[in-house]
Amino acid sequence: MAFKSAQPYNDLPSLPPEKEAWETLPVYKILAEARAAMAELKGRMPIIPNPLMLINTLVLQEAKESSSIENIFTSSDKLYKAFASTTTEADPQTKEVLRYRTALYDAWQEQQESGINLSLLENIYRKIKDKEDGVRDTPVYIGNRFQVVYTPPCCHDVLTEKLNNWLHFSKTNDGIDPLIKMAILHYQFEAIHPFTDGNGRTGRVLNILYLTQTGIIDQPILYLSQYINAFKSDYYRLLRGVTENGEWEAWLVYMLTAVEATAIETLNLINQIYDLLQSTIEKVKIEAADIYSRELVDLLFVQPYCKISFLVDSGVASRNTASKYLNRLVELDILALEKIGNESLYLNKQLYKLLSK
Ligand SMILES: Nc1ncnc2c1ncn2[C@@H]1O[C@H](COP(=O)(O)OP(=O)(O)OP(=O)(O)O)[C@@H](O)[C@H]1O
Ligand SMILES: [Mg+2]
Repeated sequence: MAFKSAQPYNDLPSLPPEKEAWETLPVYKILAEARAAMAELKGRMPIIPNPLMLINTLVLQEAKESSSIENIFTSSDKLYKAFASTTTEADPQTKEVLRYRTALYDAWQEQQESGINLSLLENIYRKIKDKEDGVRDTPVYIGNRFQVVYTPPCCHDVLTEKLNNWLHFSKTNDGIDPLIKMAILHYQFEAIHPFTDGNGRTGRVLNILYLTQTGIIDQPILYLSQYINAFKSDYYRLLRGVTENGEWEAWLVYMLTAVEATAIETLNLINQIYDLLQSTIEKVKIEAADIYSRELVDLLFVQPYCKISFLVDSGVASRNTASKYLNRLVELDILALEKIGNESLYLNKQLYKLLSK
């Protein structure tokens, strides 16, 4: 049966797609570039002493970008504050973005234990949407009342069967390059659209899990949402191109270009964070030698906002000394103090600048 946009696409072809549709020179050219950029990024990661320095900050940025594709907006500053604060309530949009962050982080932990399976997919969805249900048993469509662009398969049994094929393809060692597989899996996941909502975001979380699962990168730090956001109409158009005309080549070129561009940008960012860490160490050593320790400076980079309890919990200082240390760093213009409620948060000013560029 041919594809009809207003009818559930139960004939969505199983994976893998025919090689003729995507094994082409343009795909392999950009694949080589994307692989090279990823290899360089992976090799550069260890210069950052504590991987959490990157994971915390980049996951938050990704949560923000990925959610904004769905028109859920918050600012970096609100997000970082809400992440650091224990006493203040975030607004609903910021909360939803933070849930994406939690979903991604928890899924990464879960994947290391159990790999990618159906319950992992459902858990990501549940955490993002704050819901209890799983694979849907009701129809959904993409588009609006007046123009339906795509109607995903329906319902529960069909979806489960298609997800099993998806999972099988994700695990099979068939010699297809992992970056190509990630792009194929992303299309297919969106076409299956297993949940009532949050499919875009769940699918974008799965991209990074797949990259870590296959060892393309060791930590979850490569995030495509910023690129997808910047070229959003292409993203939608190319998804449709695969469904309507089997245009895998254009889709793969898009996704591989996204990987390459993002890997290069992330590498730049890592280099800048590293330089900033070094210059901050030097500055504190010279201008506040009496309070300097490497652990103290490292803590300022674990997330953009720092607070007294972080120093106390990691054994860097007692409560009293911690507050003295942080205030000294404010005098040196490294940190900026912001009070919210009765909590004092200290922003790493230069780090924040780098991250919000
Ligand atoms: N024609 C299409 N075919 C398949 N998938 C599509 C198509 N158009 C959009 N999509 C996918 O559906 C997602 C939107 O679905 P849904 O609303 O369930 O997810 P979301 O996470 O709430 O939203 P968003 O992805 O906009 O953040 C898009 O992000 C995209 O990945
Ligand atoms: Mg939605």
